[in-house]
Amino acid sequence: MPEEVRFEKGTLLGLGVEGVTYQAKIKSATSVKGEYAIKDYYDVTPDQFYKSTRFSRQRQIFERLADKNYRETHLVVPMAINEVRNHKGTPRLELVFPLLKGKNVSSLLKEKSRPDWELIQTFIHDILHAYRVLHQEVKVAHTDMHTQNVMFSEGRFYLIDFTRAKGLKEIRRDGEDFVNVLSQLLLGGREVDEISQKHAPEVEDTNIASYIAEFNAEVQARVGKIYGQNIKDYIYSLPEKIAQKNFDYGQYQKELVAVIVPHFQANGNP
Ligand SMILES: Nc1ncnc2c1ncn2[C@@H]1O[C@H](COP(=O)(O)OP(=O)(O)O)[C@@H](O)[C@H]1O
Ligand SMILES: [Mg+2]
Repeated sequence: MPEEVRFEKGTLLGLGVEGVTYQAKIKSATSVKGEYAIKDYYDVTPDQFYKSTRFSRQRQIFERLADKNYRETHLVVPMAINEVRNHKGTPRLELVFPLLKGKNVSSLLKEKSRPDWELIQTFIHDILHAYRVLHQEVKVAHTDMHTQNVMFSEGRFYLIDFTRAKGLKEIRRDGEDFVNVLSQLLLGGREVDEISQKHAPEVEDTNIASYIAEFNAEVQARVGKIYGQNIKDYIYSLPEKIAQKNFDYGQYQKELVAVIVPHFQANGNP
């Protein structure tokens, strides 16, 4: 994409710690058309992005997946990394992504009913596929998969937001996140909401991590009640369940599940 391309920003999509994401269209009359999602970093310069070790994992992901289609990898990476300047001329980083029509899983869970098995299967397939590519081909762990970092677009799921990406030593976190998000989907929006309100942190509460841990533990306990078994046993049985449905489920995905579950048991997690 040529550098002189300018974007007209539209709806705000997200306000993050590192930057703000907008929906955008190309402003100038040009042959390049379409809609994009643009993430403006608050105070990161392109120079910092290309040189600092803080961004090395993101660079690794973006470079390795630059010429791949997100519909194939299920990982949404920038199609362009631009330098923009404010009125004072200070350079800042702007990432241009393809705009995914749809919503994130957090919004999907606003629909109160329990998702059907078809949707659950698709989630398992798509996210484990995204993890396979990320872990095996890029050799990076995401470490921040939650309901706002998974997009649901045209019936499929896509992993976004690589700002917390780490080395493969942190791969266990991806397994835990997978169990947590899958559990919320299995439960459905109404109950997730209820649990979230029950465990809502007080205004003065600074220990958000313990709130999240309580929330996840209760979500998993309820899933266990409904499905008649421990959530980890349930997830452990998924490769079999999915194989019976003739679902495209690769060896690595099976292995990942097999690796995740005993790990949970060994660590005595809830
Ligand atoms: N390519 C995209 N297409 C459509 N919506 C997006 C896209 N990327 C991000 N979003 C929306 O913007 C939100 C924030 O994006 P994200 O990359 O997670 O940044 P942050 O968490 O730093 O705010 C997401 O939860 C999602 O709803
Ligand atoms: Mg995010």
